[in-house]
Amino acid sequence: MTTILLLLVAYLLGSIPSGLWIGHYFFHKNLRDFGSGNIGTTNTFRILGKKAGTVVFAIDLLKGTLATVLPLLFGIATISPALFGLFAVLGHTFSIFNHFQGGKAVATTAGVILGYNPWFILLLAVFFFTSFYLTSMVSFASVLSAAVAAIFVLVLPAFHLIFASYDWLFTSIILFLACFIIIRHRDNIARIRNKTENIFNFGLNITH
Ligand code: G3P
Repeated sequence: MTTILLLLVAYLLGSIPSGLWIGHYFFHKNLRDFGSGNIGTTNTFRILGKKAGTVVFAIDLLKGTLATVLPLLFGIATISPALFGLFAVLGHTFSIFNHFQGGKAVATTAGVILGYNPWFILLLAVFFFTSFYLTSMVSFASVLSAAVAAIFVLVLPAFHLIFASYDWLFTSIILFLACFIIIRHRDNIARIRNKTENIFNFGLNITH
């Protein structure tokens, strides 16, 4: 019973559409009508600026982290904490407060990984920031990092490099989320292929 209740809490936590609400209440702007139309960190930086972008990133990340540590806080050890993180990501992307729509799952998934294993997110951050530095495309860095995460969860447990013990549910959830993130970036991928994807320069403007 507690588990089901906490999964619901995780979903509701993830559902908080931080970008949408901050845009609406502080800037009187609907993020869905500007830039990429996404309500996540990147579009917030792009449309509302650095401060708002940083706050939205922090909230979206923490939604995933908090959901993942929920079972620990309530002493539930029977099921992988990654499942609670998954519910937060589902809330983020299919938000009850936003007509069951939402972001592209990157920041909240990063928060889930941070809550589960901080070393793993550090490792992925190296890939994310290196690819972002080389391309100036957040979408490219996100898709690449998602693919790298999927490869790592499949390969690393075999070598016991990061995971002390094997958690098949965590592996399955990360594989699912990696595919999910890539699918949610399908428009970005099409633009990358056409060489028309937005170049991100920390919220100063958008260039093609
Ligand atoms: O996390 C979303 C990012 O990868 C792309 O955002 O707004 O450029 O579609 P956006």
